[in-house]
Amino acid sequence: MRDILAGNISRYRKEAKLTQDALAEKLSISYQAVSKWETGQTIPDTMLLPILAQTLNISVDKLLGYPVGQENDTYYEKAYKNADGYYWGVNPSSMCLKVISLLPPENRLKILDIGCGEGKDAVFFARSGYDVSAFDLSDSGIEKTKRLAEKAGVHINAFKADINDYRLDSHYDILYQVGVFHAIKPELRNEIMDNYKSHVNKNGIAAFFSFVEKPFIGMPPEEEEFFYPLKSGQLFTYFHDWKIELCEEYIFDCNSSGIPHRHAYNMVYARNFDESFL
Ligand SMILES: C[S@@+](CC[C@H](N)C(=O)[O-])C[C@H]1O[C@@H](n2cnc3c(N)ncnc32)[C@H](O)[C@@H]1O
Repeated sequence: MRDILAGNISRYRKEAKLTQDALAEKLSISYQAVSKWETGQTIPDTMLLPILAQTLNISVDKLLGYPVGQENDTYYEKAYKNADGYYWGVNPSSMCLKVISLLPPENRLKILDIGCGEGKDAVFFARSGYDVSAFDLSDSGIEKTKRLAEKAGVHINAFKADINDYRLDSHYDILYQVGVFHAIKPELRNEIMDNYKSHVNKNGIAAFFSFVEKPFIGMPPEEEEFFYPLKSGQLFTYFHDWKIELCEEYIFDCNSSGIPHRHAYNMVYARNFDESFL
């Protein structure tokens, strides 16, 4: 929580085009206090939170890293709420098997499913013996994830969060992300990827799947509010300093919205390589 708050103060201060001095002046405090908040050495007094949030043009919830209610009406929220059963089905993606082969579930390894949807993969990981956390922007997605986990007799730490606001403050062995990279605002990609990579344990892996732009593939028919696809190949570059276990590009047919269409996607499995494992 402290790291999330620190990152948010720094980010939203910059977005509000305020220096640390300028923010400090508006709050009648010293710039050293702002600097300490942004490095996580201290946290703001509770009484200051409303005025701090107001000065940064955001809500207190957003400052603390909780998603704001108005994002509740997204394409996927409606799709999950209105689906007969599970919109994406309940069978795990083939990516799960690759993850298991790269880092088998010994010693309750910790995995985070980013943009978990209705939880089919998260539940599969939990059933396989991993210690699973998962988040998504959709309330219905999270509810359905919890229900699926309950039915399978496993526990998942599932919670609602916006990928653009949420930052990791604890370490994982595996970061798993299928089909949500395009929701990250381009100006936040580097910061978010730095945060993710610095919270993966040595020898841990990232398994990421992202839709990518190709000149000969049209836009998907889903009317997602925020769609910032990566360029083909761009996903791999984030892991240039890790060991790339596998990277691939696919073009596939999809019928997810009842309209036949095609997607291009890139997939990467990268390891935070530790020489001592050689
Ligand atoms: C293509 S679906 C994939 C779902 C899941 N990973 C799966 O494979 O079944 C993309 C998911 O990203 C979620 N999503 C979209 N924007 C998001 C955001 N800003 N923060 C967190 N999740 C988001 C959607 O709610 C949706 O569940």
